[in-house]
Amino acid sequence: MSAELIKVTINGQDFQVAKGARLIDVCRENAFSIPSFCYYADLALQASCRMCLVRIEKMPKLQTSCTITCTDGMIVTTESDEIEKAQRAMVEFQLANHPLDCPVCDRGGECELQEMAFDWGGLEERFSERKNAMPEKYLSPMVANDPQRCILCKRCTRVCDEWMGEDAIEAGGRGANTVIGTYGGWLNCSQCGNCIEVCPTGTLLDATYRHQARPWELDQTVSTCSFCSDGCQMSLGSRGGVLMRSVARDRYVNGINGEFLCIKGRFGHPFVNHEERLKTPMIRYRKGGKLIPATWDEAIKFTASKLEEIANAHGASSIAVVGSPRITNEANYTLYKFATEVVGTDNYTATEAFSLVPFFDNLGGQLATHRDIRHAKTILLIGGEPEELQPLTGRQVRQAVRNGGAKLFIVNSREIRLKQQASQFIHIRPGAEDAAVLALADPAQNKLAASKMGVEAKELETLRQTLSDTVGDIVVMFGGELSQAGQIILAQFPYAFANEGQRVLLHPLPLYNNSVGAHDMGLMRGSHTAGQILDAAGDSVRAMYIAGSFLPEHLSNRQDALSKLDFLVVQELFETETTAHADVVFPAASFAETDGTFTNNDGFVQRVRQSIPPVHQAKQDWMITAQLAKALDVDFNFQLSASNVFKEIAAKVPAYEGLRYPLLKDETKPVQVKHKVAERRDLLKEAEGLRLGVEGMSETNEKTYGTPEVGHELFKPGTLTGKVPQFPLLAAGNPEPPSVAISPLYQITIDDSLRRVEAATGD
Ligand code: SF4
Ligand code: SF4
Ligand code: SF4
Ligand code: FES
Repeated sequence: MSAELIKVTINGQDFQVAKGARLIDVCRENAFSIPSFCYYADLALQASCRMCLVRIEKMPKLQTSCTITCTDGMIVTTESDEIEKAQRAMVEFQLANHPLDCPVCDRGGECELQEMAFDWGGLEERFSERKNAMPEKYLSPMVANDPQRCILCKRCTRVCDEWMGEDAIEAGGRGANTVIGTYGGWLNCSQCGNCIEVCPTGTLLDATYRHQARPWELDQTVSTCSFCSDGCQMSLGSRGGVLMRSVARDRYVNGINGEFLCIKGRFGHPFVNHEERLKTPMIRYRKGGKLIPATWDEAIKFTASKLEEIANAHGASSIAVVGSPRITNEANYTLYKFATEVVGTDNYTATEAFSLVPFFDNLGGQLATHRDIRHAKTILLIGGEPEELQPLTGRQVRQAVRNGGAKLFIVNSREIRLKQQASQFIHIRPGAEDAAVLALADPAQNKLAASKMGVEAKELETLRQTLSDTVGDIVVMFGGELSQAGQIILAQFPYAFANEGQRVLLHPLPLYNNSVGAHDMGLMRGSHTAGQILDAAGDSVRAMYIAGSFLPEHLSNRQDALSKLDFLVVQELFETETTAHADVVFPAASFAETDGTFTNNDGFVQRVRQSIPPVHQAKQDWMITAQLAKALDVDFNFQLSASNVFKEIAAKVPAYEGLRYPLLKDETKPVQVKHKVAERRDLLKEAEGLRLGVEGMSETNEKTYGTPEVGHELFKPGTLTGKVPQFPLLAAGNPEPPSVAISPLYQITIDDSLRRVEAATGD
């Protein structure tokens, strides 16, 4: 939008506004209330509800302010008898078929239509004809539908199309019988529930929560999602110590994601109050014996004495301390402090899928925020699959292309769904992502890189040309496929590519909610990786203290590693493959029971707030570690306050310098930590290493064809999502139940006969 200012007069007051600004936004920004149903910022215009009417001088009829862009000298009236009469008539039409039974509607109390009717009062209802009654039904295990409440604003269909790229729902039927429906009757989509969130009425409903609570009964707590590295802001609704729902509804929260959440953020929370949560600390007094419930005092004392014994017998470095990219910065920092100051070991790490240390050590520019992605001119994605693994990033990319005209370049070995939006899709052989980095860094290597990637050299030339021609921001994203040398060279792209009028911003795609924080807290800089620590189990590593559990890929081919340890202490939410070998298990609090911070892939450090008291005897991770330190005679002096831990982080971790919780309190203004920008480096050594690596790549690897199925990562039942019964059902292929009137959970038994259909191959 142009920065040129023009004059607009609204209700007799003059305003200077940006030329081209949308009138409805200008009115609202200046506190003139304009009712609307179909308008939704940053979605294509619908202009169907005709609620946003205003009078504009010299224009013959009332105008819909959502479709008007401001022009110089425009004189606007937003309130008058004429306007109110027209708006009231529109609401009367909206209610022609709509049942007047808000007390039994699941949206009652937070419905925009109900609010408008209540605010205005005295609405006429002249329609006396029989209303179109239609039964409630399930569209999927996550989405329920009460079709008669629809006002056809089509927010749902637009978010499905523009945010999710799925186009899974559409209006069908004619005239008064028009309803929002699915293609083919059963909703096979990514089940994000964003259509539910943006629906202004009780038409699309959260099938996992409806009729369980009323919104006014819930305590709303603004917090950060505990699944992927995007860090969506959400409002946790709890009642009586039970987490009932999670929404991004903008009446409660307004973070980087607006009203967007993916299936995990919206529906993945029921693990919090799940009956299988660990209830008490437990001790296994002898190897091969059972875990026996114990008091906290007993378990802490037992652990402290065992750790002491092992340190005395084998030295401090025989004890490994393992943090997690799933727990808070406060928890990871306390573990790091425990490892370095209490135990004195350099054997520490986190259960991360891949390390970003080479990237952060060589970072040549700023991290791209989600807003930067939305407004970028060119986006380059090397590896990764954000639509499944970082869905908010996926949405931003899609909108940057669809609504912002950005050019998207994808280098990937699979034909990921975002390919549909790409200006250029470079389909490479599996494992050849490094070759793309090499070719971009050194045009002389184009031929070599292209032959290893299995593409034409001119595809790489086109890509480089577009990058150098871009005016505006270029965002470079990458997944976990890059080698260390590849990460180093990519981290310096801002120096290699930025020309005048360009910014090159970087956006790593780690997998977990606090992957970036686990790096920042120092845990990824220990002497060994998780795999190396496991390999040394029973040899140089005799004891291990781990928060959370190892990933299946860490344990694969090393299943017996944990059983070789003399002593294993685990703090977890549930029994896992890791706790199965533990000598002591501490019940840890989930994100909903915890105060702290997560740092997302934008580098935003965002608050995690306690929504419910810890379930059973669970304790926050950092408190357990601090208690264990005290039993070993080191008082961290955090005085049971997460904010004291964060103060120490701010004093010790340079990127967090000066930060305090009060500075993070406003989720609408997230704070980016100051990752050190490394100077431009001579990359000869790394480039040569990268070239040798690329040279050694096979040219016989077959390319994989076919777009991976929607949800192939999102629906995978993990330790947490596996506790939510809808996830295994979706993972089993989301079978259509015999009746759509009853929840599929009560109709379908998941057994071996239900298998997910494999991704389509060939096109
Ligand atoms: S749940 Fe998400 S993907 Fe499915 S129809 Fe609704 S908006 Fe579309
Ligand atoms: S289902 Fe909701 S969001 Fe969709 S058109 Fe109807 S009222 Fe609007
Ligand atoms: S996109 Fe990521 S952060 Fe956002 S709701 Fe989904 S899992 Fe959570
Ligand atoms: S908000 Fe303008 S027509 Fe619906």
